[in-house]
Amino acid sequence: MNPDTPMQLLGGLTAREFLRDYWQKKPLLIRQAISDFENPVSPDELAGLSLEDEIEARLVIEHGQQPWELRRGPFTEDDFKALPERDWTLLVQAVDQFVPEVSELLEHFRFLPSWRIDDVMISYAAPGGGVGPHYDNYDVFLLQAHGQRRWKIGQMCDADSPILEHADLRILADFAETDEWVLEPGDMLYLPPRLAHFGIAENDCMTYSVGFRAPSAAEVLTHFTDFLGQFLTDEERYSDAGSVPCTDPHQIQRDALDRLKALLNEHMNDERLLLTWFGQFMTEPRYPELVAGPELEEDDLLASLEDGAVLVRNPSARLAWSDVDDDLLLFASGQSRLLPGNLRELLKLICAADALHSDNLGQWLADDEGRNLLLELVKQGSLEFADE
Ligand code: SIN
Ligand code: CO
Repeated sequence: MNPDTPMQLLGGLTAREFLRDYWQKKPLLIRQAISDFENPVSPDELAGLSLEDEIEARLVIEHGQQPWELRRGPFTEDDFKALPERDWTLLVQAVDQFVPEVSELLEHFRFLPSWRIDDVMISYAAPGGGVGPHYDNYDVFLLQAHGQRRWKIGQMCDADSPILEHADLRILADFAETDEWVLEPGDMLYLPPRLAHFGIAENDCMTYSVGFRAPSAAEVLTHFTDFLGQFLTDEERYSDAGSVPCTDPHQIQRDALDRLKALLNEHMNDERLLLTWFGQFMTEPRYPELVAGPELEEDDLLASLEDGAVLVRNPSARLAWSDVDDDLLLFASGQSRLLPGNLRELLKLICAADALHSDNLGQWLADDEGRNLLLELVKQGSLEFADE
């Protein structure tokens, strides 16, 4: 993908211009980001998904048992029959993992790292429906898929912004509107993190939210240090050999802090471990129970592929790769694997190809390490046999 080619998805901006001027900074309204957009999920299908156990779904009812009532799925058909005529929203998380056409939409966003994308949430709103003025800590692209929605945007917020007293939802107490637009199917609104926004359905409408993953600083520190801890022995401790006599035995002196900083730096600056942790963390699946593969022998895998079987990425799996010196690290659904540099093209193929079969795998099936990698990914559940 050429970062200097104007993109319809970005309203004629190039990826480079969008990243420079808008990403993480300011909102962008794009009329007909996807023209002739065909909504692959009907309202009934979305409601159907919200009845399933493994799917995260929520209902927000503005005038429910209390203002902005939040209910969590799975729902029943009776729950839907009992809803008022208007002013409610159904939100279903990670629909890209369950509907291939929704996952295909993510191909439009390949100008961003795939490991930054979290999921595609789809909302259906009855007329007047919305989830209240709020802000998110993540970037989001809001693609209008069906009907019209009025989006209002407001101020930049932070943890000190006043919110309504509500057990579950963080609804802003103040909303200082700066702009508003009515989005038609195919229109898209990009919002940077922490920008106040408020969508209200003009009529029955559906909105797709392409959301991004960004670990908080607290998560980075706690998870990375937990990860590091696994590699450290109990014997490695704060040590103060060579210290000089203290002037006051109750004082913690500067040199103690310097020793601690040296201990921390030695481990925190281990770039290979940092990369390993980060790749594993960013590829952790949202639903790990949906990433599980069969027991399989290499010969059976080879025979199946030679027989015309096709491997695809499990829609619940997450993959990424990186260079480390002359080697490669493959991250697959929260695990990492060090591989020799000559497998680079195979890794790229596994991460990007629509399907893997004996034609495009070709020479890799004759390579011991290539074959073993494919086998391990199938056994782990990141790759799976396509349904016939
Ligand atoms: C919605 O689709 O109703 C809510 C999306 C959002 O505001 O993040
Ligand atoms: Co939002």
